[in-house]
Amino acid sequence: MPETKLSPRERVFSGMRPTGRLHLGHLLGALPNWVRLQDEFDCFYCVADLHALTTRFDNTSHMKQDGIEMVADWIAAGIDEDRSVIFRQSEVKEHSELALLLGMIVPVSWLERVPSYKEQIGELGQRIATFGFLGYPVLQTADIILYKARRVPVGEDQLSHLELAREIVRRFNGLYGPVFPQPRAILTETPRLLGLDGRKMSKSYGNTIDIAEAPEAVRSKVMSMFTDPARQRLSDKGHPDRCNVFSYHRFFEAPAAEVDEIDKGCRAATIGCTECKARLADRILAVLDPIREKREALLAEPGRVEAILEEGRSRAQAVATEVLDEACAAIGI
Ligand code: TRP
Ligand code: SF4
Repeated sequence: MPETKLSPRERVFSGMRPTGRLHLGHLLGALPNWVRLQDEFDCFYCVADLHALTTRFDNTSHMKQDGIEMVADWIAAGIDEDRSVIFRQSEVKEHSELALLLGMIVPVSWLERVPSYKEQIGELGQRIATFGFLGYPVLQTADIILYKARRVPVGEDQLSHLELAREIVRRFNGLYGPVFPQPRAILTETPRLLGLDGRKMSKSYGNTIDIAEAPEAVRSKVMSMFTDPARQRLSDKGHPDRCNVFSYHRFFEAPAAEVDEIDKGCRAATIGCTECKARLADRILAVLDPIREKREALLAEPGRVEAILEEGRSRAQAVATEVLDEACAAIGI
């Protein structure tokens, strides 16, 4: 097992909130990035349950199980629990303490102008207009700098949080001395994979396929996908470039010869949508089957994921206590 403390490699930090099952968007977006970064960096991947609490403080019954299943998804998708540190945010108490300390130096006005703050309150209502939710980016900054992580893989929606994290670091270092490096984002290209209905892919639209989706469900969801509306019957000629099924074939890396065959067949009306979708379902299942099997094997072993999280907690905490001590010493407390 790599000894994180002695390693000269730079650290990467990222996290996801345990808010339910991961889907194809994660499988083709964030996760391959996380997997790849393991070759070059010491990666810390965190189940951001405290962040989930900022909006779900009144709906916590699934949070623990969601976290466990999310970790199973990560590992099944290629995150290596030996090379990377996988842990729960709430179990490394230093996150909370550093967030509190940072809270002393972060002007409320900085937090109020984060674009996602007003947006989210607009969407979710005054229920989440709490101290904790306002402090979301402060906690996120604490997450990252507690490991002196320099690189943070995130989607575009998180860039303003990263910018704020850099600002907070500059303020801390200016007040107390150069303790923390300024973290930089590694932008995850969000795959232009749309939801099954052609709208933006989102769990709240119910237009996703989960990583853990049962094979029959994958099949029936694919068979219900929208296609080129011009193809009402088999003899109608289609436009693959206007069809979501066709772009899924591409995202799932159908060989060029098959893409070409579908392209021509659709335009000439020699291949039907039913066949085209059945082939897509096969293609998606060829990717998902081994992942689902690995996930199920992990979850079938009682206590296995908890043990991985415990090991991760201990490795994370070794770094976190040291850095927090350094921060406290710099502050003079
Ligand atoms: N806010 C992130 C999200 O919702 C999750 C997160 C928590 C995170 N802490 C982090 C991401 C630290 C990057 C770095 O996606
Ligand atoms: Fe789309 Fe395939 Fe039907 Fe063409 S044949 S419209 S690509 S589903």
